[in-house]
Parts: sequence; structure tokens; C-alpha cells
Amino acid sequence: MTDSLPYRVRMTGISKRYHPIQVLDDVSLTLKPGEVLGLVGDNGAGKSTLSKVLSGAIIPDAGSIEIDGEVVSFASPADARAARVEMVYQDLSLCDTVDVAGNLFLGREPRRRIAGLSFLDKARMHAEARAMLDRLGIVIADTRLKVENLSGGQRQSIAIGRAASFDPRVLIMDEPTAALAVAEVEAVLDLIRAVSARGVSVILITHRLQDLFLVCDRIQVMYEGRNVAERHVSETSIEEVVNLIVGRKFAARSAGAAGSTGVPA
Ligand SMILES: Nc1ncnc2c1ncn2[C@@H]1O[C@H](COP(=O)(O)OP(=O)(O)O)[C@@H](O)[C@H]1O
Ligand SMILES: [Mg+2]
Repeated sequence: MTDSLPYRVRMTGISKRYHPIQVLDDVSLTLKPGEVLGLVGDNGAGKSTLSKVLSGAIIPDAGSIEIDGEVVSFASPADARAARVEMVYQDLSLCDTVDVAGNLFLGREPRRRIAGLSFLDKARMHAEARAMLDRLGIVIADTRLKVENLSGGQRQSIAIGRAASFDPRVLIMDEPTAALAVAEVEAVLDLIRAVSARGVSVILITHRLQDLFLVCDRIQVMYEGRNVAERHVSETSIEEVVNLIVGRKFAARSAGAAGSTGVPA
């Protein structure tokens, strides 16, 4: 479906070393407009590090990133945001003691001037927050609720809603469903479908392999800081993905990579 489109994201030869560990070793990643890519791998495989390179939070030792054909170099998440790349981090980075609307508008609250003084425009902020949530189908009764009083799924939705409100071309989500109840997982998967249907390219990091087959177009598997395999969801199965995640031997062989003896390099 997205095969004929040019790349939205092309990461090539990305390497990162935290002495003495080579956390990323010559990793590539591509993403098409509106595509949902599942990024999987065991703990420590390098998924979060690779995503943070794309979101500007980590500067790689080597490698290049192109977005819509343009070479970019991110020194900070602000640089990535300016290029319309957003990431929802595992810890969500929300302010618990601030209300829903305040979190959605953190750092860019609408203001109005009265008699030359600038005031927070609360009415507008809540109205715009409500519209933002409605647009994404996020169900939260009151935008005045403090985030600390929300469920895990609602908190996740707020973090995704905030990221989506920056009108990203690329949205990265790092294990968004890890701590959620079943119905909440469904809501997050619906959100992913909604943003990708609008043309946003999504990277979904998850351990819930069944979810990959519900929302992803393609799956990329990492193992110990390297790419080991890439599959369209239509041409793979949970069993194969599990094998690729845990089995270097099998994975290396099927990817045609070196090291097919299974001996760690
Ligand atoms: N700031 C850091 N300093 C040293 N080692 C790190 C740092 N961040 C990550 N690592 C190591 O890099 C490896 C990959 O981590 P990560 O990208 O978080 O993996 P994943 O998200 O796939 O679980 C792990 O071995 C981790 O301990
Ligand atoms: Mg991680």
C-alpha cells in the first residue's frame, strides 16, 4: 500500500557506544508516510536508544538521518520537534499535579492581554484541549482533572494527544501499552490507527506481539544493537517474530547477515 511512496524516514549506519557496550551497531531504519512500523527486540536490544536518536534525545556516534529526503542532524528534542518528529517516552513525561488541559499545553499555554498584562487564557485552553481530545477520540470527562487522578490508559492517551498536537510527520511510541488494562490497550491501538490514517508515520515499540498484527504494516527486529530482520506483517507470524527476537542463529541466517554460526561477534 505504501510501497511506492518515497521514504519519510531513512536512518542509515546508526551507531552508538556507551563504553564498553556497543548499544547500536550500524543500524538502519526506514519508514514510509502513514506507515506503522513495529520495532521489537529483547530488553537491551537498543530499541529505545535508536528511537531517541530519531527524537533528538541521543546524539549518535555515526550514521545519518533523512526526513522526507532531507538530511537532518538533531542536537536536541527541540530540533526534532521543529522537523515534526515527536516521541512519547516510556515514562510519559507528564506533570502529575497539573490538569489535563495544562499537560496538553505545557510550555505553550494560550494567553490573553488585559490592560497590557498577559494572563493565562484558561477558558480557551480548556476549550482547545476538549477539541483536541475529541479529534483523537480520547474519552476524558473533564479537562480540569489532575493527571495524577487518571488511569494508566488515560495518562498514555494524554501523552499521545500532546505529541499528536504538534502535528508530527513521525510519531514514536515507546511501549505505550506496557502497563495498561485490556480495554485501555484497545484505545491506544485505535489512537495509533487514527494518527496513521492521517498520514503520520508511526514507530511502535512493544512487547505485546499480538498488537503488532493489529496495527503495524511492517515489523523490524533488533538483537543486541543490530538489525536482524524486517517483515511485512502479512508475511510473518507471532511464532516467527518470537524466534527472531530470541534466536540470533535463526534470525541472522534468515536476514542473510554474517554471524550465522550463532557465535557472538
Ligand atoms: N545512558 C546509558 N549509559 C550506558 N548504557 C546505556 C545507556 N542507555 C542505554 N544503555 C544500554 O544500552 C543497551 C540498550 O538499551 P535500550 O536502548 O534501552 O534497549 P531496549 O529499549 O531495546 O530495551 C542496554 O544494554 C542498556 O543498558
Ligand atoms: Mg526500551
